This record gives sequence, structure tokens and C-alpha cells, in this order.
Amino acid sequence: MDGHMAPRMDLAAIRADFPILSETVRGKRFTFLDSGASAQKPRQVIGAMVRMMEKAYANVHRGAYHMSEQATEAYEASRRAVQRFLNAADEREIIFTGSSTNAINLVAHSYGRGVMKPGQAVVISEMEHHANLVPWQMLRDAHGIELRVARITDAGELDLEDLAAKLADGKVGLVAVTHMSNVLGTVTPAALIARMAHEAGAKVLFDGSQAAVHRRVDMQALDADFYVFTGHKLYGPTGIGVLYAKAALLEAMPPFLGGGDMIAEVTFEKSIWAPIPGKFEAGTPPIIEAIGLHAAIDYVEAIGMPAIEAHERALVDRAMARLPHIEGVTLLGRAQDRGGVFAFALDTAHAHDVATLLDRAGIAVRSGRHCAEPLHARFNVESTCRASFGLYTTPEEVDLLADALGQAREFFR
Ligand SMILES: Cc1ncc(COP(=O)(O)O)c(C=O)c1O
Repeated sequence: MDGHMAPRMDLAAIRADFPILSETVRGKRFTFLDSGASAQKPRQVIGAMVRMMEKAYANVHRGAYHMSEQATEAYEASRRAVQRFLNAADEREIIFTGSSTNAINLVAHSYGRGVMKPGQAVVISEMEHHANLVPWQMLRDAHGIELRVARITDAGELDLEDLAAKLADGKVGLVAVTHMSNVLGTVTPAALIARMAHEAGAKVLFDGSQAAVHRRVDMQALDADFYVFTGHKLYGPTGIGVLYAKAALLEAMPPFLGGGDMIAEVTFEKSIWAPIPGKFEAGTPPIIEAIGLHAAIDYVEAIGMPAIEAHERALVDRAMARLPHIEGVTLLGRAQDRGGVFAFALDTAHAHDVATLLDRAGIAVRSGRHCAEPLHARFNVESTCRASFGLYTTPEEVDLLADALGQAREFFR
């Protein structure tokens, strides 16, 4: 696993970094195809978090003593690692939250209620995860914001003509769309969407929960105003997410949560907010999780995002060569630009039954609607199974899935 930006990666060495991958399930090898829900963790992440707790733990930003200073330095070093990872201009543009969900809710409250005006609109798309849908419905109901939903095509790509139409009246304050669908695998043309939003006078937020895991994302190239991702899908721990936002926007936004650490001065009469990013990090932050996220970023960067992307592209090609040709299997979405997420339905069985049968073969896939109920309604399917790949997924595992699905079709005939 050496060599920055290496076009290839040593899959066996990578798999050896993930202890759980050598587990068995009822005597069968564990084939984990649910990284889109939450990825497994390498020793490097687990070790960094344990070392922090064993040797360098204290609360941050509080104590003048050695351990607290050390913990604060480690926490802030993680912020700088995220800044580099996203190519953000300024480390103050990185806010640690609990998750992508928390980050989007932060924007919906602070930017939505604090900066947007009633009568303005937010545009989302038909393929959003509930995390990038429900907060905007709440904003709509609380603050008189119109919620517009840009259509997707039958191939599962964002309908850019419809997006342009939804932007045309100049009332849109924010376009909030996914950078990669957690159901269809579709990667959206983010730089183009940002340009369209900006030309219409709107800001743009990308839900990068899936995208940031699979390819390099660059805030300068995208010109994103807001970008969110979540640690646990990036081989890091749960309990930590990231909001990137341009500094000028963060300066203009009121805080989301009040409490310790987010203030510069407090009297009974009033409080003065801390400068960014502190203004948006009330209370004790996810300290150990930030250390874990830093280790996860170091881990994927040592492999190289281009190498990860190339590996996953080969897996996608292999899956596309097999899955759509299995009798009775319908795949949702055929986007040109896509990542390793495949939602499918079997004509003769419910998704839960298919997933249960796959589990008997040691294959873990998710079944249900994957927090995207309106998207399933859009495609007229009640529920699907979803297989999603990680950097440790092997071509053989893709074949195992295809073989097992073929057998499942036989079983449920
Ligand atoms: C596209 C997308 N957005 C948002 C989320 C929410 O992430 P979290 O549950 O970590 O907040 C997910 C997770 O499933 C996702 O796939």
C-alpha cells in the first residue's frame, strides 16, 4: 500500500488492514457489500482512536494543562487534514458536526432561517436521501420557503433542463443536491450545477456523503458554497461529520446550537459569538472521532483517491457486465457517470427475502428503501436490495453477488 497517487493498489494488503473482513458468517466468508450504509474500519483508524484514549485524551479548547493542549492540537490537526482533503481555502471553513444529517440541518437552520427570506425557494432533486429532503421540508413549513424538486431522467441522471427551469424565476436561494446518489450510484455534474445555481443567484450545497468516499472532491474546482460528508462512510468512526462552507457565508450565518465553546463572551444580558469555526461547534465536540477521521483521511490519501476511483470503476464495469443480464433482475438507474452502488429488484421476491437468502451465502446487502422513499416511488418500486462497494471490495465478491442472485432467482421461481 505504498506510493502516493499510485494508479493501482495492493488489494490483499488493504484487506488485511480491515480486521472484520476476515470474519466468517455461519461458516461462510463474509462478503460485505453494504459500505454505502457504513464502511468498515482499518486498524489505522481503530489504533489512532485507542492511542488517543490511552495516551493523549482530555477535553479540547479548555485546559491550560499539557494533555488538553495536546488533545486540542490533535483535534485542530484533524480540521487541517479535512481542509486539505477537500482543498478548502481556509481551515476555518471546516465545521465538525455529528454527521452529514447534522451538517445539513445546520445549514437549513442557520442559512435557511437566518439568511434566506420567506418567499425564496430551495431546489433539491428526486434522488435525495431523506437527510437532504426532510430538513428542507421543515424549513419550508417553518419559514415560508418554497421547496422545488428537480426531476431526474429514467436513466437516473439529474434533468438539467428541468433544473434550469426551476432556477429561471430568480427566486431560488439554494440548490441542495446529492453529489452521488446512495441508491442509483449516479454522480451528478457538480461543477456545472454550481455554475447554473450561481448564474441564477443561488448558493449551492452538495451532499457528498457518498461521493467523497469514492473520488477526489475539490472545493475550488466545484466552487461549492456548502459541502457535507460523514465520517463513518469514509472508513472513519460514527459520530462525526463535516460541513464545509465558504467563510463569508459562515460569518453571515447565525449559530445553530448555543452553549459552551461557541461564545467569545457571555453575560446574563447577551452573548457574543466566537469567531468561526467555533461559532458552529457548541459543546464538547467529537474529539476521539475527529482523531479517527484524521486517520481515515490519511489512510485513503496514502492509497490515493485516483487509485481508489480506478479500482471501483473496474468493479462497476464488472457489475454492469453481469447484474443487468440476470433473469428477473431490474437495476435502478443507468447513469453514465456512476459509482459502485447498485439498487435492484427481483421480479419474483421481496427485497427482504432476497437479502435474507444472500445473507445465507454470507453476502451482506441492504434491503428496503435506503432512506430514499420518494425516489423508489419515482421508479414505481416498493423496495430494492442495494449492493455497495468499498475500496476493499474484490472482483470475486462482485461475481459472488451475481452468482448468488442468479441462484436466488432460481430459488424464488
Ligand atoms: C447520500 C446520503 N446523504 C446523507 C446520508 C446521511 O448520513 P448520516 O446518516 O451519516 O448523517 C447518507 C447515509 O446513508 C447518504 O447516503
